[in-house]
This record gives sequence, structure tokens and C-alpha cells, in this order.
Amino acid sequence: MFKPDILIIDDEEIMRVTVSDTLMKKGWFVTVAEDGERGLELLKRKDFDVVLCDIRLPKKNGMELLKEAREKSSRAEFIMMTGYGTIQDAVEAMRLGAYDYITKPFHIDELIIRIKRIVEHKSLLMRYKLLEEDLNERYSYHNILGKSKKMQAIFEVIEKVSRIDSSVIILGESGTGKGLVANVIHRMGSRRDKAFVNVNCASLPGTLLESELFGHERGAFTGAVRKKYGRFELANGGTIFFDEIGDIPPLVQAKLLRVIQEHEFERVGGEQTIKVDVRIISATKEYLENLVANGKFREDLYFRLRVIPIHLPPLRERKEDIPILIEEFLKRFNKKLKKNLTVSDDAIRCLMNYDYPGNVRELENIIERTIALTNVDVIRPGDLLSALDTNIRLHCDTKPGTLTLKELLARTEREHLIKVLEETDWNKVEAAKSLGISRKNLWEKLKAYNLLK
Ligand SMILES: Nc1ncnc2c1ncn2[C@@H]1O[C@H](COP(=O)(O)OP(=O)(O)OP(=O)(O)O)[C@@H](O)[C@H]1O
Ligand SMILES: [Mg+2]
Repeated sequence: MFKPDILIIDDEEIMRVTVSDTLMKKGWFVTVAEDGERGLELLKRKDFDVVLCDIRLPKKNGMELLKEAREKSSRAEFIMMTGYGTIQDAVEAMRLGAYDYITKPFHIDELIIRIKRIVEHKSLLMRYKLLEEDLNERYSYHNILGKSKKMQAIFEVIEKVSRIDSSVIILGESGTGKGLVANVIHRMGSRRDKAFVNVNCASLPGTLLESELFGHERGAFTGAVRKKYGRFELANGGTIFFDEIGDIPPLVQAKLLRVIQEHEFERVGGEQTIKVDVRIISATKEYLENLVANGKFREDLYFRLRVIPIHLPPLRERKEDIPILIEEFLKRFNKKLKKNLTVSDDAIRCLMNYDYPGNVRELENIIERTIALTNVDVIRPGDLLSALDTNIRLHCDTKPGTLTLKELLARTEREHLIKVLEETDWNKVEAAKSLGISRKNLWEKLKAYNLLK
């Protein structure tokens, strides 16, 4: 508990003196005023924690004082002192934002209890603010949330690459936040005031993509009725983000390579060479190496793009991030849907058990759908079920009472078997070895769990 700054406003001298003496003996800081105007003046000058204020005062009464202090958004909490006949005013004062009131004559201990209550309340608030700041600082990086070591390491990389111009490629499964990271890299760097241009390479066929990127001259092809500036020109000075870079057709790959190497290109059907200064960020969920090996992606371009690779881990590999993501999405969708739902601990646990093939986006959708579809105040596992497909069901009904221990163990065993088998590409010799059981034993289990392929 901190030592509060207290202002006593009362026209009775004996009262000011006795009360302030006692409070000062406790090591608290006390200032006194004998009328409303003087009180207000002091309030303007200093940040008091507690104001002990008589309701009947000369020059400006306690109620007016309280109102004005509130309008000036003073942080001081008021305890109103009421005498006989002003109880009604005290109630009104509480409505106006006073914290408490005390009836005269009172025992000094009673007053001390009330002041302590305010100080405790304020300390809690301060601690909460600190925690909140701490949380924001440590667990998020410009909208990207993550307290896991893996995400913290990524924040560090983003911080570094945003300061330089090298090409970055962001690799990760669908919904892991590739678009978000690209955006943050741009916003953190020196190009932040220039354009961030997004190109979804998967959504346009080759020739269209070419003219979309590099623009075209009038009459370059049928339908090119006027000159068009491409996205590279629009992005000049800024950043261009190629989403699904693996889908870029060979023709465009060659032209892209030239922009990266020489910072220049010609519009489709044009002869004039155009110079640009653009930072390139790309993203893919495919293994570009495979595309390179199959001859679908130019190796030289691949090396140019992946100067700095950033691997975004799937959500299932950083489950400790799930609670803070839930909290953020709750906030976001409560606001959007004008609701005020919270989520129970067992629902959080159930959400943490799930593997999220669609990663953060899937979690985001789950929360949005649940908030939209349920009419409860607190989301419980059952509410997740009703808002979702059966996918997540498996992970939700593990609260005590729903499964026998044997069933639960069997389920866990089955899930683990699948995981190990997937990791070993269904190689049973390897899987048995990694599980520490014989091949025969593994075979029996696969049969029992209906997992024989
Ligand atoms: N670490 C994170 N913190 C907060 N929100 C996140 C995080 N990662 C992803 N999101 C949110 O999840 C959603 C999906 O992210 P994003 O679109 O960036 O993923 P993606 O990897 O580009 O997916 P896709 O491959 O399908 O394009 C977005 O709404 C994004 O804001
Ligand atoms: Mg994306």
C-alpha cells in the first residue's frame, strides 16, 4: 500500500486539526482547506488520492466541488462528510461519483478504514495497469501476439529485418499469420509512409498477373483500351507483398527476377524502361524447394527471394499462445458483435487441446462463431460444441465425468499413435521403435484402434 495524499476540506477548524493530526501520524500526507474555493484551487494544483470533503461549505459547497473535480477528470476519490440533514445529499454525491460518505460525528478509526479501502482499490488498479502494460509489451509485437519462445524469436527477427531492405520470405501453414507479419515488417521499417501493395499470386492467371504487376500500354493486347500502371509502380518507394509466391507462372518469374536484380522493367507492350525502388516480401505455404526440384520455380529467383526466411510455426506447436489469442479475439468480437462474453477455464482447456489445422485463423473463427451463435454470458465447452463442427468435439468432452479413465487413456493412446505414425510417414518399424514397443504390439494396437491402412 502506498502512502496517500489526502486533502481535507472543512470549515470547522477543530475538525481539520484533529483529523489531520491523526492521519499524519500514520505517515500519510495531509493538506487542509477551509472552504470550497480554496479546496478546488488545491485540487487543480496537485494530484490528491483522497479528498475528505464536507457537504456544507462556505463559498462553494461539497457537491459543486465534486462535480467540478469530476469534470476536470481529477483522479482523486471523494469521501463526503455529512451532518444531520444532509444524508440525502450524500446519496446524490455517490451518484455523482463520490467513492464513499461518512456521517458526522464519526470515530476516526471509521474514517481510516474508508481511506484504506480507497488506497487498496487504487493500488490494485495500478498493479493491474502495470500488468497490462507488461502483458502488451512482452506478449505482442504490433498486433502479432505470442508469448511462446518460438514467437518471441520471430519478433526479434521482424525487428531486425524491418530495418533493412533484404528480401524476406515468410513460410508457414495457412492461417499462421503470414499476411500479418508481412504487414508489420513494412510498418516497422523506413518505408512505412509509402505503399504496402498486396499481390495474391494464386488469384490471377499468368498473363493477367503480368499486366497487374507491371502494367501495360494502351493496345498492348485485345482489351487494353488504356494505359495501366502496374502494382510495381504503385509500390514505388514502398513494399510489395507476394502472397502464394509459388503460384507465379514461369513467364512472370523471369520478369520478377529482373526487377529484383536490376530494379527495372517494361510495361506489357511498352518499350520504355521503368525504374523502381521496391522492397519485396513474399509468402508461401508450399515447399518452394519441391517446386524448384520439379522445375516449376526458378532456382535463381528462389535464392533471391529467400535472403531471409521467416518460419511461422503452426499453432499446435505453440499452444501456450492460445490463451492470449483467445483473450484478444474475445475482445475483438465482443466489440464487433456488441456482446460481453467471457470464457470458462474448462473451455480454454478444451480449446488448448485442439490441433488447429487452420491455425490462428481457425481459432479466430471459432471464437467469432461462438460469440455470434450463443446466448450465454460465459462460454463453456458445450457452447463451443454447438457452434462448431464435430472436429473439435473429440477434444472438448474430456471434462470429469464424461469419460471413464479407460476411455480417456485409450483415446490419448490412439491420438498419440496417429501422431507418431504421421511423423514417421506411417513407417511401422520406425514408429514402433519411437514408441518403444514391438512391431507386433504396434500392429495389435493399430488393429484395435481401427488404424490399419
Ligand atoms: N500471432 C498472431 N496474433 C494475432 N493474430 C494473429 C496471429 N497470427 C494470425 N493472426 C490472425 O489470424 C488471421 C490469419 O492470419 P493471416 O491472414 O496473416 O494468415 P496467413 O498465414 O497469411 O494465412 P493464408 O496462408 O491462409 O493466407 C488474421 O486475422 C490474423 O490477424
Ligand atoms: Mg495470407
